[in-house]
Amino acid sequence: MYVCVCNAIRESDLRAAARGCRGDAADLYASFGQMPQCGQCLDEVEEILIEERRFARLPVRTPA
Ligand code: FES
Repeated sequence: MYVCVCNAIRESDLRAAARGCRGDAADLYASFGQMPQCGQCLDEVEEILIEERRFARLPVRTPA
């Protein structure tokens, strides 16, 4: 399933990249060589980051 339609990024790819990402959603997009366009996916991407960090028992930063 595509989470970010603008950049054609799938949930499975986001989750895999989130496990190695120590930054925020913008850093995650950057790992794909992309940047947010419309921004409609940002909340879901932040949630994916939080879930994957909790799963990996890494510190969780909540969005401001
Ligand atoms: S859906 Fe991700 S930037 Fe538009």
